[in-house]
Amino acid sequence: MDKLIIQGGARLQGEIRISGAKNAALPILAATLLATSPVTVCNMPHLHDITTTMELLGRMGLELTVDEKMNVHVDSSTIREFFAPYELVRTMRASILVLGPLLARFGRADVSLPGGCAIGSRPVNLHLQGLAAMGADLSVDGGYIRATAKRLKGVDLWMDLVTVTGTENLMMAATLADGVTVIRNAAREPEVVDLANCLISMGARIEGAGTDTLRIEGVDELHGTTYEILPDRIETGTYLVAAAMTGGNVKLKNTRPALLEAVLSKLTEAGAQITSGDSWIELKMDGRRPRAVSLHTSPYPGFPTDMQAQFTALNAMAEGTGVITESVFENRFMHVLELQRMGAQIKVEGNTAIITGVPQLKSAPLMATDLRASASLVLAGLVAEGATEVERIYHIDRGYETIEEKLSNLGAQIRRVPA
Ligand code: EPU
Repeated sequence: MDKLIIQGGARLQGEIRISGAKNAALPILAATLLATSPVTVCNMPHLHDITTTMELLGRMGLELTVDEKMNVHVDSSTIREFFAPYELVRTMRASILVLGPLLARFGRADVSLPGGCAIGSRPVNLHLQGLAAMGADLSVDGGYIRATAKRLKGVDLWMDLVTVTGTENLMMAATLADGVTVIRNAAREPEVVDLANCLISMGARIEGAGTDTLRIEGVDELHGTTYEILPDRIETGTYLVAAAMTGGNVKLKNTRPALLEAVLSKLTEAGAQITSGDSWIELKMDGRRPRAVSLHTSPYPGFPTDMQAQFTALNAMAEGTGVITESVFENRFMHVLELQRMGAQIKVEGNTAIITGVPQLKSAPLMATDLRASASLVLAGLVAEGATEVERIYHIDRGYETIEEKLSNLGAQIRRVPA
């Protein structure tokens, strides 16, 4: 397994290009199951989770090809299996996103139940409740969700909790249902909107994307399309925090500042100067040390849980004390123990971390535990004294395209070595 070695101390400078959003690409790949003619997906990020999803679709019999521009063409007419095996779902929970499309179009699906996960228990009960309300027959047998349905029917659904992939699964299922489905307390994340836009371009009738009420009128079939995935707001935010921590000045291109308001406002509070256009963001720190910030995570448009670990790392080296409350997942402070090994002063009480910045973090051998926790360790390594080694970086490869290349382009001393 590869590891990253980061020599701390370089101030990040320069420009990089942001990739397509992982959490939009995953549901959009699942949505290709709904189309009767081929779908082309552009701006696809080159990530491990994308490869896993393509493998999953390929095993079902779909034909997938990648052209020289890295656009992915998917033809679902060759499907022969309606099955998502444990070995793939275990490595990527988002595989559950095939359940809604398979049921809606083919009336059957056997999908492994995702197990526990490093950031919390993450059940899928709301996905299942919604599909059952739409008339699906569901049972759990041998660790698998076995689902069948004739034609799903449109219903009025109230989601007990705001769930991103839950909203996506049910929205996809509803596109081919008989009648109108209303999803209330729906997730408003930009990735949900991107999926809705892609489905609309396939012929779906969806209103209200980006609000908490989605109205989906089922149609008889969806057709192929060509769709470009929106930029990754979490990748964008991660590089901005990296720049702020190192006192750097960077420009990120091919991104969308409007998707990051909560994050940009916290970076400004930390002392960064931010300017932006429609598709770029520039952050200037001019060598200053950031100030600690307090925040609590919540569904969009609140502060994203996927940026919590990175801000924990920022607070660990910032001036002052910041209080971070994680209210989306119950166990998303795995990075704290590792940051403490670098000398960070962090006290965790329940779902709150109280972080008092130290003037200098120190390098240590570190172990990545989940995707965003791993990113926070890389950020800490960028400012630590000495060389930091981050192991188990397959977590990072799930969600950050060539992180060492992008950071090197900004002047970081970082390299990947086979462990
Ligand atoms: N929840 C339930 N029951 C359900 C579904 C969710 O209790 O049926 C709970 C979860 O346990 C959690 C909360 O609801 O406490 C919100 O979870 P959500 O369902 O929104 O999370 P998700 O859809 O599994 C997506 C992203 C995550 C991101 C979260 C929150 C994808 C593929 N994953 O997960 O991304 O953290 O939304 O924004 O879109 C990441 O990229 O690193 C990542 C973990």
